[in-house]
Amino acid sequence: MESRYKSYKSIENLKDYIGETITLNGWVHNKTEKGKLVFIMLRDGTGFVQCVVFKGNVSEEVFENAKKLTQETSISLTGSVREDNRAPGGFEIDVTDLKIYHLAKDYPITPKEHGDAFLLENRHLWLRSSRQMAIMRVRAAVIKAIRDFFDGNGFKLMDSPILTPSACEGTSTLFETKYFDLGSAYLSQSGQLYAEASCMALGKVYTFGPTFRAERSKTRKHLTEFWMVEPEMPFFDLNDDMDLAEDLVEYIVQYCLKTCQKELEVLERDTTKLEKIKRPFYRMSYSEAVEWLHKNNIPLKKKIDGQEVDILPFPWGEDFGAVQEEAIMEQFDKPCIIHRYPAEAKAFYMKRDPENPKVVLAMDMLAPEKGGEIIGGSQREDDFDALYQRIVEHNLPLDAFQWYLDLRKYGSVPHSGFGLGVERTVKWITGAAHIRETIPFPRMIYRIVP
Ligand code: 4AD
Ligand code: MG
Repeated sequence: MESRYKSYKSIENLKDYIGETITLNGWVHNKTEKGKLVFIMLRDGTGFVQCVVFKGNVSEEVFENAKKLTQETSISLTGSVREDNRAPGGFEIDVTDLKIYHLAKDYPITPKEHGDAFLLENRHLWLRSSRQMAIMRVRAAVIKAIRDFFDGNGFKLMDSPILTPSACEGTSTLFETKYFDLGSAYLSQSGQLYAEASCMALGKVYTFGPTFRAERSKTRKHLTEFWMVEPEMPFFDLNDDMDLAEDLVEYIVQYCLKTCQKELEVLERDTTKLEKIKRPFYRMSYSEAVEWLHKNNIPLKKKIDGQEVDILPFPWGEDFGAVQEEAIMEQFDKPCIIHRYPAEAKAFYMKRDPENPKVVLAMDMLAPEKGGEIIGGSQREDDFDALYQRIVEHNLPLDAFQWYLDLRKYGSVPHSGFGLGVERTVKWITGAAHIRETIPFPRMIYRIVP
């Protein structure tokens, strides 16, 4: 017998069943009554379809059951599929039979407006609403595009551990946990260091998993748990790295445009903006970006004694925040890569630019439409002595980095990689107002439930 998952009929495939009588399973999104007619908007996760129960077509019992239906009641319904251009989705079901699995009582999320806090407390139910469903479906498409891109281009998936003995992206955002008799372990901030070891074994690799940052920042772009894909390539320099990043982002956006038309429509996303996301993107060095900030009078915003002050001109050496990033990006309709950042603003493992040791061979990709930084990457320090000195300068525990230093002892090679944040990318592509809507169950400083 054919497995159920193959014969299972879903709303997204209704076009294959026109004229046929089929059974659909799902939940009642809403219901209206009009004399001898009951209209049910059925939701099954793949879409919505209007189902019409006409008193003359069904038994007394089925009609009574149809009238009883409440929002989010789970049902199984049989009927014939009819094409109807006026119906949302283009199809309608003429119901002949209906079975109630479970009658839902007083579903808390009604079509009226709800506050953010209420929706977040009910995230387990909020996921059923049409906007959230659409965002989650785009998220699934983004992840599939990422995997297809790397698997199709000769990269091997190499998983990195989540429990780690040391920091990768600075010690201030580490989640610490007790680890048996071995002291402390830390939730991984990035799989990069392990990806570096992996690429020396397997060539082009990528690691893809959840990463953790004990971020104090309560912005629309920060989560404490987020998903990151991190390719790492031996024999790649910074230019190769930037080319790859552009190819990947173009592929993801174009894949979503191709496969998520309905979702982007529900989200009222202006897709003409996404259609423009084709290589080449824009590039400028950090120093060029600072010059631009000077010309346009964009200050550094700094908190001094609790007061926010503007510092002009923007001091070379400071990292960019949302203010600078958004100002720079206003002129662009495609992503822009900013490269060669000041060494002191960036991580210990980045290679200094041989042409200017004040900067590192780093790059961030900023997305247009206030998408912010979606990628951070670099060419890695491949010289043993230089890396050893950086680890000491950053006050990192040498013993925890012995294995990492080994990579510079046994056949060291120039190598590069980057990390793309899944939720930031989904936020940009969907136009979601806040990053918390781009992951099924967001983790933020002030929220861990549900
Ligand atoms: O720029 P980041 O910190 O880079 C790294 O972790 C490198 N080790 C990656 C590498 O070279 N292999 O983070 C990379 C990306 C950011 O550009 C952003 O998209 C996302 O991860 N990100 C976050 N997303 C949500 N919430 C946060 N708190 C994030 N921090 C970083
Ligand atoms: Mg970064």
